[in-house]
Amino acid sequence: MLDLLSRREFLTSAAVGAAAASARHIPYPMRPPRALPPPSRWAAKPVAVASANGLRAVQKAFDLLMQGADTLDAVIEGVKIQELDPNDDSVGYGGLPNADGVVQLDASCMHGPTKRAGAVGALEGIKTPSEVAKLVLKYTNHIFLVGEGAKRFALQYGFKEEDLLTEHAREVWLHWRANLNPNDDYLDVPEGEHMTARPTGTINCDAVTPQGDLSSVTTTSGLAFKIPGRVGDSPLIGAGQYTDNDIGAAGSTGRGESNIKVCGGFLTVEHMRRGMKPTDACLETLKRVVKATETRLLDERGRPRFSLQFYAVNKRGEFGAASLYPGRFAAHDGTEAKLMDTAYLYERPAASR
Ligand code: GLY
Repeated sequence: MLDLLSRREFLTSAAVGAAAASARHIPYPMRPPRALPPPSRWAAKPVAVASANGLRAVQKAFDLLMQGADTLDAVIEGVKIQELDPNDDSVGYGGLPNADGVVQLDASCMHGPTKRAGAVGALEGIKTPSEVAKLVLKYTNHIFLVGEGAKRFALQYGFKEEDLLTEHAREVWLHWRANLNPNDDYLDVPEGEHMTARPTGTINCDAVTPQGDLSSVTTTSGLAFKIPGRVGDSPLIGAGQYTDNDIGAAGSTGRGESNIKVCGGFLTVEHMRRGMKPTDACLETLKRVVKATETRLLDERGRPRFSLQFYAVNKRGEFGAASLYPGRFAAHDGTEAKLMDTAYLYERPAASR
């Protein structure tokens, strides 16, 4: 073989072989990986976009796209890196818990080629809700499973029930509880040790294959210290993410309640349907969010006291992101996985409440 191939070709084919093996080991694949057509016959510029915590996700998703993996398989394998990372306290294992100290996870996904959707809400004990959402999409006549039923469903497919509350997340929750109410029986923890904000972290990832097939996924542990049972925008099809294989895919991170009211994932795709570029579509959706925001959440200049971001890719592989205030997002467009600046509506954040 080495007689026939140059050393460079040999190394390249070995790397492709190893990489293709990783595409072949995707659990519950939508379809096995397929050889890509030559670039001259590509219908789209392949791309993966994600929230700023998704640098590893876009790298993984893009690598899988290049190995001929299915579009949804690629983005799910991408966001799973974050779900399994105990150091990301906004997603999956290690996510910050609800007010009772219990980690409840939300996720949803859409698969453009088959026009299917799947979601789970308030899922406990399973590290990778995005994967469970994919199984709802692939194996059921339903779209959305919640709570105990979602967990039982996951266990039936071989997922392991685990304690998702890491030491770090438990400590943050204990501090939050201690400082919640000066009249309760918990003594306040000293200044400087307690939480100053209630983080909402989430990861959204959207991708288009060289054949122009699209998908989206969003996964989160939701608003830290939420009322038990609260689900945000992430598991809601049309809010946390949305895909139309003829048009594009979009998703969101940030304050879920504000996104839910405008169905932001769907709205962003609809803006693209009317001809807007992805970045403009995201900005237009944010303008709608501001219009729909109640006064208590606006500062004296009418600026939202929360953060919200949208990410989008269209069928040709154009992509973009926008936020209320300056921010970053992750993208891989064939050159490298990189962080880029979002477009934004306002220069400086309003003080949060
Ligand atoms: N966007 C995540 C949440 O609000 O739960």
